[in-house]
Amino acid sequence: MDQISSTITPIDRPEKRLKREHNSASSSDMADLRILLIGNGGREHALAWKLSQSPRVESIFAVPGNGGTATCPKTSNVTSVSAEDFPGLVQFAQSNGINLVVPGPEAPLVDGVEGFFKKAGIPCFGPSKEAARLEGSKTYSKDFMKKYNVPTAAYENFSDYEKAVAYIDAVDHDVVIKATGLAAGKGVILPTTKDEAKEALKQIMVDKAFGDAGSEVVIEELLLGDELSVLTFCDGYTIKSLPLAQDHKRIFDGDQGPNTGGMGCYAPTNITTKELTEQIDREILEPTIAGMRREKQPFRGVLFTGLMITSAGPKVLEYNVRFGDPETQTVLPLLSADTDLAEIMLACAEGYLDNCNLTIENKFSATVVLAAGGYPGSYAKGTPMKVDSPPANSTIFHAGTKLEGDQLKTSGGRVIAINSVGDSLRAAVDASYAALSNKVIDFEGMFYRKDIAHRAFRSVEKTSMTYAQAGVDIKAGNDFVDKIKKAVASTKRAGADAEIGGFGGEVDLSQCGYPDAPILVGAIDGVGTKLMIAQSLKKHDTVGIDLVAMNVNDLVVQGAEPLMFLDYYGCSKLDLSTAADFVEGVATGCRQAGCALVGGETAEMPGMYQADDYDAAGCAVGTVTKSSRLPRLDAMTEGDVLLGLGSAGVHSNGFSLVRRIVQSAGLSYTDPAPWDTSKSVGVSLLTPTRIYVKTLLPSLSQIKGLAHITGGGLIENVPRMLPDSLAAEITYGSWTIPAVFQWLKKTGNVAPVEMCRTFNSGIGMVIAVDAASAASVAKALADAGEQVFEIGKLVKREGGEGCVIKNLEAWN
Ligand code: AMP
Ligand code: GLY
Repeated sequence: MDQISSTITPIDRPEKRLKREHNSASSSDMADLRILLIGNGGREHALAWKLSQSPRVESIFAVPGNGGTATCPKTSNVTSVSAEDFPGLVQFAQSNGINLVVPGPEAPLVDGVEGFFKKAGIPCFGPSKEAARLEGSKTYSKDFMKKYNVPTAAYENFSDYEKAVAYIDAVDHDVVIKATGLAAGKGVILPTTKDEAKEALKQIMVDKAFGDAGSEVVIEELLLGDELSVLTFCDGYTIKSLPLAQDHKRIFDGDQGPNTGGMGCYAPTNITTKELTEQIDREILEPTIAGMRREKQPFRGVLFTGLMITSAGPKVLEYNVRFGDPETQTVLPLLSADTDLAEIMLACAEGYLDNCNLTIENKFSATVVLAAGGYPGSYAKGTPMKVDSPPANSTIFHAGTKLEGDQLKTSGGRVIAINSVGDSLRAAVDASYAALSNKVIDFEGMFYRKDIAHRAFRSVEKTSMTYAQAGVDIKAGNDFVDKIKKAVASTKRAGADAEIGGFGGEVDLSQCGYPDAPILVGAIDGVGTKLMIAQSLKKHDTVGIDLVAMNVNDLVVQGAEPLMFLDYYGCSKLDLSTAADFVEGVATGCRQAGCALVGGETAEMPGMYQADDYDAAGCAVGTVTKSSRLPRLDAMTEGDVLLGLGSAGVHSNGFSLVRRIVQSAGLSYTDPAPWDTSKSVGVSLLTPTRIYVKTLLPSLSQIKGLAHITGGGLIENVPRMLPDSLAAEITYGSWTIPAVFQWLKKTGNVAPVEMCRTFNSGIGMVIAVDAASAASVAKALADAGEQVFEIGKLVKREGGEGCVIKNLEAWN
């Protein structure tokens, strides 16, 4: 601040006043800010619109402004000085008592406008020239991300054409090619083949299609996922982000046609969850801001981070050092009325953002951009426009317009936009389109996209969630079993058929030289992605029970008594207390099942897993005599009764889908469970799998078949105990469906049949029993503490279906 000299008028030094006004509640006599706003787009109109609502703002001078800023309250357009003439802007600021400068576009920031005002002692909301390289140079930003471990696409820089071509030949991922200098958003090429990639390189590096901007290129890995943008206010230390938004860059509906500056936008996006927002802060924004400080270039202003939400988490596509367009027109209307944008901007420039209120309304916002015919190619300018007052909750933001006398005319390609805010995304989008249908805006040749927010609606309305979408393909699993059958069969030996597809494996010891010995039965299983919930909650003492349950329940369905258990625990770095908690859980499960934990293996494999992740598997071994093996296929007949034993919850299957649904609902595992507010989401989901061994063993002689309901749900598991001639006919409504499944179904919009193919839906074990013994078996099990339901019966198998759930469509 030692540049501040006595030639600066008091109004140029807001710091003293600022401190006082921080503590003052009254806003009546606070209008002390005279703002110089640089730019003429929709973004700048939106900034002027919100800034003008600040009680602190006395006046706004837009250089050069547009038809919207010309009529915005407190705002006037300035044509006496050019936006590129920095000394002229400083002079204008000094002679007009400007005490806050807001550059809208990147160009002045990249060219160092902040430094000019800094020298003059006038606060400027925006990064220094050095910090603006985050946007100004792709090479700089990619190197920066690498240095500070900010997740982004794999990349290499090339200034040599031949080396770039060799790289294209060498990599095995699809690529994106970017000219490193500013190329007005046009410097990005997404080739679909290696030949196309090489042709693009030639055009950029040899033919200089983008001029000097193409003397250096970045070749980047193609990232797939949802593309989002986040705007983050920053004073160098504190960050405050606006809701995640999604732009629509292509000109035509369905994301077709050439790229534009942005044809519409909505926020917040429907994939926004608290977890995702926190992950973006933790993995991307905080390291970026800390990295800039470490570079001795603290970032002040607004950082626009373009993100791809990939299956491996959010990754940065690009940084911009200014507000987005049309993101700004979309997210500023979500700020509460008492959120003072001028105060926030000053705070960013002066370093007290932590003291500022930034409140976001719990609403949705949608912006539709109207373009001039021909855009993004050549288009007419000077077309007269009619613009009426928009309905309540809608706002019109001008971009390429200018006021000539009283007549508003077009002056750009993206001409104007309408934004609406509503209680739902649907309401916001509908309000914008309704206003356009009512011709609030009209000019010759205008056009706009009719499908803004289509991605959000596609996933909400059309697709209900399925296990396969969550990344798990039961069919692929079954195909795999078919594939490995041969190799497995080749291990056949006396006493063991080595066939697969059952619940466990058997060796008949009496055929292995141990006369009168029983059949040895073994089962192996893991816990699956339920482990990720345990890891995220750092609660490791129950998943061991799940591990035992998954195995011993598979043994008991063969009529076997589990005798021993062995576990395997794999991690990158052994944390004693985590591993000990885990094994405690295994021991608890073994006690519940009456089997001995006879061995285990703990494998520490540096780099094998991420951070504190671990995986676990276990194996149970038991015995059964020949006469008590289950299922008794020959004894099963039409009319046999099916009993269902209640489950303790989701048990250990379907967690990929569970996690996805929880995420889509915006819940953290520590939030109260909507289906059971006495517990957190995570703790409720971690309820261990019920172990049915001790309750079932005494009744096994009266039972014809048992099915442990694991992955594949009722529909896939019940047929596993049946002969080909019989099918299970289960009646929906004959058992109580626990609240957690109702919630999963409703929240994930999961089809009933998908529920019964993925989850146990409340039944953890199905028993086939002679109709005559059904009542006594049910009573014995109920007396032993099980929840017993008569859920159906065995019928003749007509088609291929081994399990039919009657009346399932009633589940809604
Ligand atoms: P950029 O100018 O780097 O922001 O890129 C413009 C657009 O190209 C982005 O908004 C993306 O839609 C697309 N894009 C850029 N880089 C990638 C990448 N690595 N993978 C996939 N799409 C990309
Ligand atoms: N909407 C994209 C941008 O402002 O760069």
